[in-house]
Amino acid sequence: MINAQVKKYSQELNQVGIKHQIIEHPHLTTVEAVQQYLHDSVSGSCPTLIMKADNQFIAVVKRGGTHLDSGKIKKSLKVSNLRLANKDEFVKVTGVSVGAARILNPGLLTILDKHLFDQEYLNGGTGSFSCTFRYRTADFKKIPNSRVIDIAAASTENQGKKRILSGITPSGDGLLHIGNYLGAVKQFIDIAKDHECFLFVADLHALTTVQNQKQLQQNAETLILNELALLMGELGEDLPNVTFFRQSDVPLHAELQTILNNVTPLGLLRRAHAYKDKLTKEVAEDEINLGLFNYPILMAADILLYKPDLVPVGKDQKQHIEITRDIAERFNKTFKTNVFKLPEPHIPENVAVILGTDGQRKMSKTLGNYISIFESEDTIKKQVNSTYTDPTRIHANDPGHIEGNMVFTYLDFFGESARVRELKEKYQQGTVGDVEVKEYLFASLLHTFKPAREQFAKLRANPTKVKAILESGAAKARQEATKTMSEVRDAIGLTNQYSFFKYTG
Ligand code: ADP
Ligand code: TRP
Repeated sequence: MINAQVKKYSQELNQVGIKHQIIEHPHLTTVEAVQQYLHDSVSGSCPTLIMKADNQFIAVVKRGGTHLDSGKIKKSLKVSNLRLANKDEFVKVTGVSVGAARILNPGLLTILDKHLFDQEYLNGGTGSFSCTFRYRTADFKKIPNSRVIDIAAASTENQGKKRILSGITPSGDGLLHIGNYLGAVKQFIDIAKDHECFLFVADLHALTTVQNQKQLQQNAETLILNELALLMGELGEDLPNVTFFRQSDVPLHAELQTILNNVTPLGLLRRAHAYKDKLTKEVAEDEINLGLFNYPILMAADILLYKPDLVPVGKDQKQHIEITRDIAERFNKTFKTNVFKLPEPHIPENVAVILGTDGQRKMSKTLGNYISIFESEDTIKKQVNSTYTDPTRIHANDPGHIEGNMVFTYLDFFGESARVRELKEKYQQGTVGDVEVKEYLFASLLHTFKPAREQFAKLRANPTKVKAILESGAAKARQEATKTMSEVRDAIGLTNQYSFFKYTG
């Protein structure tokens, strides 16, 4: 309900020139509850604290979720005592109930945290528990007798870490092989160690090719288990810094795609390789499904929702990142905003394409020339034993070749280097046989993937845990995506607040 007090406060803001939008909601008494109700995160709010600095009351407006460093305020104000106002003092100074403080407190010096301005809009109190204002933060500087300082205490979470985001499409059966590991997963894990990571299973993307209920479900679940096990095996069971989720659990991807459709020219999509490849495979243009044609727009939505600094992908995805940048620029320009951050691709240059156990073609599931990571030891042993070595070598004491010998190619990645060097010398001299080198490869693979295989077995036995990981990943992802989407909706005028007050300015 917009009561008389809220109306009056809104008019006061208008007089000063602080743009705001009125949001009505049920009676809610904490910032957390309001933000949750609005599907926004606490960091999208701007609580006001009333404090006593020596013998003067002040208002301190900060970002939700940040802690304030009182030393910084004391130093800036040159005071020696600083404390929160007590209940009685609060009510007397603000005229509103405790917990309903407003950013505009006439007569008080107002300290504005510099981090408020990192966000274009923030939600704050109105004096009423059933109303919240969505403020345009740039206008906070118009608050009379205010000053901007950096008052946030250094946060320990993801401090200074850049954000990376990537997606993996469950178009195959989801069981990863050592080619996938060396060509993709390992690269991600290597940069994941010192980044804040968002990684998702792009099940909506898989729909372009997988159109069978059981198969999609199975592919996605297997891929989830494989990826999680590899990540946990190397980064630790609680996956610090990693938000792992399933794309379809965050429907905002689809909503943003619908919006981005409108700033994407047809020509941009026609030039996309995935689409062009399909055309050259003699599929009639009229038969190509729009999901494939639109794929780059969904991918742009995936990326832009999370404002990552870097997007680690394979070379084949470079064009998609360029399209994403193009779409983001068009959106920002059209709506005169800077909501979207232009992402940079991260494409490691020296990632090898791993040949299969036939020594001829790229390792791949469909060619059957692969070595698994999570299948049984017996299966892996068979795959290792069938690996191409040196066909010119008939007897174990014939001098052998190591070039093009796949066992040594794999040992270069998985073996212990001194031992591999020794085996190579012996092999060339004809003093070690295929059986022994293959046994060493088998042992090295089991050793490398031991932690991941253990995690895999644990996860498979505990679906509840997998569900919980996906749920908390999706919740975190939704929180981030919701923030961006509300900025997007604001920027384009898709707001649904039937406010009968005029916006100022
Ligand atoms: P693709 O469709 O490219 O064969 P998948 O979907 O099976 O690949 O694999 C997922 C990721 O693993 C991709 O980033 C792909 O580049 C990488 N990958 C697959 N096979 C190999 C390989 N033999 N060598 C190196 N990387 C590979
Ligand atoms: N298209 C990517 C691939 O086929 C997967 C993907 C979907 C993705 N959305 C993404 C990768 C966003 C990076 C960022 O490999």
